[in-house]
Amino acid sequence: MRKNLIVGNWKMHATHLETIQMVQKLSYRLEPSDYERVEVVVCPPFTALRSAQTVIEVDHLRIGLGAQNVFWEEEGAYTGEVAAGMLAKLAVAYVIVGHSERRQLFGESDADANRKVGAVLEHDMTPILCVGETEAEREAGSTEDKVAAQLRVGLQGLQAGAVEKVVIAYEPIWAIGTGRTASADDAGAVVTFIRGLVADEWGPAAEAVRILYGGSVNPGNIAGMMAKPDIDGALVGGASLDPDSLASIVRFWS
Ligand code: PGA
Repeated sequence: MRKNLIVGNWKMHATHLETIQMVQKLSYRLEPSDYERVEVVVCPPFTALRSAQTVIEVDHLRIGLGAQNVFWEEEGAYTGEVAAGMLAKLAVAYVIVGHSERRQLFGESDADANRKVGAVLEHDMTPILCVGETEAEREAGSTEDKVAAQLRVGLQGLQAGAVEKVVIAYEPIWAIGTGRTASADDAGAVVTFIRGLVADEWGPAAEAVRILYGGSVNPGNIAGMMAKPDIDGALVGGASLDPDSLASIVRFWS
């Protein structure tokens, strides 16, 4: 049984004080039964992780904590980078890896994503590996080739037992932050393709691995996405910044 998962990716938004308020507001809007149906995770910027961890602990909240990036080395002369072990000490449970903004704006490669996935797993956290095609790639009919290549390299060297712990997020780049969501049919088809690829390469891991859709998810389109049997949840950017709308997405199951 794969538990539904909603992850809020706050990107470069929210100071540590704003983060405390957003986490508290979100928690006020959720019921204990919501957490039975769906796992809820927020990914604030690095500077807010400690504050988020504290409010979650002190108020005994059931909201999970995620980071938006990581570097694969354990420590050393890597100015500006943050190691997986540092995140694990802050009770971070999830780390987004290979987001398309990291790939496009900061030149991260599939090989980088692979090293990051390894470092995150090494510290008993869950990587959320993002894959997805550009608009030109979709129009050229190469969506599946692109996503398959990203997955094969991103998960290279992992055994099935490790792959089943990974979360994969299918995020068509043209749908991120644009308000143009993929149709549920198109998203569902690519996610089913991804599960098939995991089955081919890692066998039984395919039944366990959770696959999210991301790209302009909002309270109005979550139901269509979740009607697809292979989609296990969503990675939500813009709509996750408003605790009301993030709570509405989570409460779709209620
Ligand atoms: P969006 O972002 O929901 O604002 O499109 C999704 C993401 O980048 O993860």
